[in-house]
Amino acid sequence: MKKTLFISRDAIAQRVAELAREIARDYGQDKPILIGVLNGSVFFFADLVRALDLPCEIDFVRAASYGMSMDSSGCIRLTKEPEIPLEGRRVLLVEDIVDTGQTISLLIETLRHQNPQELKICVLIDKLERRTQEVPIDYYGFRVEEGFLVGYGLDYAEQYRQLPEIFTLEP
Ligand code: IMP
Ligand code: MG
Repeated sequence: MKKTLFISRDAIAQRVAELAREIARDYGQDKPILIGVLNGSVFFFADLVRALDLPCEIDFVRAASYGMSMDSSGCIRLTKEPEIPLEGRRVLLVEDIVDTGQTISLLIETLRHQNPQELKICVLIDKLERRTQEVPIDYYGFRVEEGFLVGYGLDYAEQYRQLPEIFTLEP
């Protein structure tokens, strides 16, 4: 596999800081719950939350990856549920990458059952080419057309997550 630097550490840090400012401005004193989607969003989530000048709470979800590709009608199985009650709260879901949009769509549908006041999405990478589900992305770090990316939480078969930069991966 050929790994090529795509987004540097500095570019990531700068963009995360910008996003944090934007989010802090939008939420004011509403004390949102930020929910990180495990495992891919861990580094992005940790950096983003620490850059936020905002009273907030944090929690995590994890979705079982099987059965997501075909059935967009049902709910996905959460193998880790948020523990803070979401009812009536402003919730910001933080994900690593949106590709087809299936995962995030099903996650939103599942979390909506808890009746949050609002459910928004923040994604590090908005990857456009294979999108099949229309997804309302409220905040994104970087928008890319295509390609497979690894690093800064993004994996290929659980490898490369720990890299501090983002790379393209090609056979
Ligand atoms: P979806 O197609 O939007 O449902 O994305 C499903 C999942 O595929 C994401 O949460 C990632 O875990 C994974 N994925 C999609 N594109 C990439 C990529 O470029 N690098 C690493 N993981 C990816
Ligand atoms: Mg993921």
